[in-house]
Amino acid sequence: MADIQQELLQALNSFTGVVVSQSILQLSIRMAGVDIHNLSSDGSERLADCIRHGIDTFIKEPRKREACLLKVRRVIGSSARHYPSEFESEEVSIEQESDILHARTVGHRLLKSLGFGLTDEVKIATVISELARNIFRYAGRGTVTLTKLKGMRRGIEIVAEDSGPGIQDLDKIMAGQYHSTSGLGIGLCGSKKLMDEFSVETERGKGTTVTARKFLT
Ligand SMILES: Nc1ncnc2c1ncn2[C@@H]1O[C@H](COP(=O)(O)OP(=O)(O)OP(=O)(O)O)[C@@H](O)[C@H]1O
Ligand SMILES: [Mg+2]
Repeated sequence: MADIQQELLQALNSFTGVVVSQSILQLSIRMAGVDIHNLSSDGSERLADCIRHGIDTFIKEPRKREACLLKVRRVIGSSARHYPSEFESEEVSIEQESDILHARTVGHRLLKSLGFGLTDEVKIATVISELARNIFRYAGRGTVTLTKLKGMRRGIEIVAEDSGPGIQDLDKIMAGQYHSTSGLGIGLCGSKKLMDEFSVETERGKGTTVTARKFLT
């Protein structure tokens, strides 16, 4: 099994220097009061929270911060077998049109178990479909990862990721001033309105990652 400490350091290293990564991690471990090699379910959540504070302090650029946190969450999420009660993640590959529906169905299942009401359930399922549809339409393939957030703020996280052509005119699109030739052009800006947190990271020729979260009130 990969060493979680090494994996977390690597995740942080790709966004900050080695020294900064080490201080974020060491400080977080101390503040969370955890044994990194023997994480309890509570401990894993506390550690994730503390690392988040470290990221907020050391990384000033919001998109970079978001991407870094995403990587850290992945590492913690992929060790979910150690603490399945805190993080439950499901990754759906988007390769054909029917996968869009599959992502929505997986989302419904997670939402039910979290206790979202019907209105929120419909909103979140809509966002899952919109993001999966964009991947299929514009990037050809990618993944939608759905994660239950069960820490202090319970909710759901949707990460839609692809290595497609990237999104141009993102600012116009998010401002609702974009005229799409392929759809209504409201998928992304509409999705943002339906969620509590929404960020898009995209690079021409490299791909797109959309991260969206909705919390239980
Ligand atoms: N994953 C992606 N990769 C590359 N380009 C994308 C991606 N997602 C969206 N786009 C680009 O951003 C534009 C806006 O996307 P958005 O989902 O807001 O609207 P749309 O897909 O055009 O129409 P609809 O309202 O049917 O969703 C798209 O027209 C497309 O050019
Ligand atoms: Mg769309």
